[in-house]
Amino acid sequence: MTAELTVPALADLRLRQSVKWRTFPADVLPLFVAEMDYLLASPIAAVLTEAVARGDVGYSTPGRELGKAFAGFAGRQWGWSVDPAHVTQVTDVGVGVVELLRRLVRPGDPVVISPPVYPPFFDWVPEAGGRVVEVPLAGTKLDLPALEAAFAAHPAAYILCNPHNPVGRVHTRDELLELVRLSRLYHVPIISDEIHGALVLPGATFTPLLSVPGAAEVALAVVAASKAFNLAGLKCAAVVSASPRMARVVDGLVAEVTERTGHLGVLASVAAFTEGDAWLSTLLTTLAARRDQLASLLAAQLPGLSWVPPEATYLAWLDASALGRDAEPRDRFLTEGRVALEPGTRFGAAGSGYVRLNFATSPEILAEAVARMARVLG
Ligand SMILES: Cc1ncc(COP(=O)(O)O)c(C=O)c1O
Repeated sequence: MTAELTVPALADLRLRQSVKWRTFPADVLPLFVAEMDYLLASPIAAVLTEAVARGDVGYSTPGRELGKAFAGFAGRQWGWSVDPAHVTQVTDVGVGVVELLRRLVRPGDPVVISPPVYPPFFDWVPEAGGRVVEVPLAGTKLDLPALEAAFAAHPAAYILCNPHNPVGRVHTRDELLELVRLSRLYHVPIISDEIHGALVLPGATFTPLLSVPGAAEVALAVVAASKAFNLAGLKCAAVVSASPRMARVVDGLVAEVTERTGHLGVLASVAAFTEGDAWLSTLLTTLAARRDQLASLLAAQLPGLSWVPPEATYLAWLDASALGRDAEPRDRFLTEGRVALEPGTRFGAAGSGYVRLNFATSPEILAEAVARMARVLG
């Protein structure tokens, strides 16, 4: 295994047909949506290639393999003891969260989220019949006193982003302990979106919410191999419970939610969770190197942009308000610089003036993107 993962040539990347490579014209460098430019881990590629060769592309079986594979991964990576019987496969993280909310929320009930946050959080709540209540982050941290005030009004649920996209914060064990205390005190169930859990970079430690004392009675986690192993199009995630009380919420999901999981997604996720550790370790080294590279590039060429380097994810949340608030900074970087970033306002009003940059790419593409952004400001 080499020290860093390599990225195919730009011309080969442009042959990809996913949203990252099909949304903008060919002269735009796409650093927006959370897809990575690396090739698949070889155990995953092998499993998929073999399945295609067999014509094995039918429906998924709601078996125990995914639960067993995830439990092994969670134990090795984070010392989190998961009962495979309490891992339920679902179509993707979004479907998992929405279907759990349907079980917890009556029409019009408040559901708390902490913006700036992954944009679909704003849509998942009304999709399940609820009403969004925003308790913004304090900087990059959960605002625990403000969450206590919101929980005192007895919302139907809180959706935690752990680690937090877009700011890349890894909530500490103490913060999660306090969140669980509030959840138990005010009877607010927590759904913890842990899709970025395996993308915690060297220097930080991930705490799965359900590993925190007291969390099992009040929380559910939604996990996936899809973000860390770049499998989003294959459609597979899982809901994890850790107490009979919260398992009853999961038992209430209609069978279809499990049956609609992608078969190739299950095969690839089982391979990722059982045979992916070495590749993942190289990925994290690679991403840490890109994060450091980005820090140097920004300091040298774009000192007007400020940021807190992420502890997790391959996403940089950049404060570009120095550009002026008259235009969305993302629009200027796109039209004048030909670099596609996510506009901060998609993550909530707190994102005004920000852009989110995906650095899971090659050193060359990252350097070229920053040079183009600097020319916009130059
Ligand atoms: C926090 C978070 N949740 C969920 C998703 C999407 O997950 P899925 O495609 O499984 O719905 C993403 C994608 O980047 C994300 O950042």
